[in-house]
Amino acid sequence: MKTIVTTAYRPNGKTDELAAKAAADLLLPFVSRRKRSIGKIHLEEGADVLVAAKERLEFYPQGKTEPFFFHPNSSAFRTKRPIVQDPLIEVSGLAPGDTFIDCTLGMASDAIVASMHTGAAGRVIGCESHAVLAYVVAEGLKEYSAMPHLTESMRRIEVIPGKAVDILRNMPGKSADVVYMDPMFTETIQEATNFSPLRPAADAGQLDWTWVEEAKRVAKKSVVLKAHFRSEDFERFGFSRRVRPNTKFHYGVIDCTIE
Ligand SMILES: C[S@@+](CC[C@H](N)C(=O)[O-])C[C@H]1O[C@@H](n2cnc3c(N)ncnc32)[C@H](O)[C@@H]1O
Repeated sequence: MKTIVTTAYRPNGKTDELAAKAAADLLLPFVSRRKRSIGKIHLEEGADVLVAAKERLEFYPQGKTEPFFFHPNSSAFRTKRPIVQDPLIEVSGLAPGDTFIDCTLGMASDAIVASMHTGAAGRVIGCESHAVLAYVVAEGLKEYSAMPHLTESMRRIEVIPGKAVDILRNMPGKSADVVYMDPMFTETIQEATNFSPLRPAADAGQLDWTWVEEAKRVAKKSVVLKAHFRSEDFERFGFSRRVRPNTKFHYGVIDCTIE
């Protein structure tokens, strides 16, 4: 899908600069806004639109007039509770100082929770195959400052654009502690995040054996899958399902310490 970069409706020096940088970083064309609505730009340019707004980057996939932008979402409240009780931390066995690979970064909420727990001595790498989403989230992780308790954890996350399986393939064996995957659900659930505008554009690819095998090769402690509670991927790929009563999603774990 083609994407163009433009500025806010009323551009200024800052939005011009931000747009020029995004266009150069992503090797995308810059198109002057000329006071056009997003809908009009979608039609005239036949492209998704990345807007350099005053405080942030906003992404409008074609047909969407609500933007996708970076926000810590669920990590904002998950990191206010004892982090060792967070279900992802509990099931993965992640510990301070560990390396966590998030194969499906999305909004980075899970990566932020992991980064808060692994701490300054740890490492969190987030893979995201949608290049524009990866960029919007990477910039947000660098710039967002409205929640000071998350700042350090966000700044530490390393974003790598690309398919997780290709990124894992380039990593040495047993070079991470936990490898995590949270592919798009095949069943739509009610979501309280600003991910909705991105849903049609995000990578909807599902787990396959190569991805699972690469994850097992790289992980020392565990490979963790998050999926809809009706998903059969847990059993299909050998994850032991951790049932969470009354929730729409479950985690599954492959224990890599016993193989
Ligand atoms: C359900 S969201 C992940 C949400 C994320 N766990 C969070 O906390 O915000 C899935 C994301 O992974 C991306 N994705 C899906 N398959 C991928 C793959 N094979 N490699 C890299 N990214 C992938 C999608 O584009 C989407 O942004």
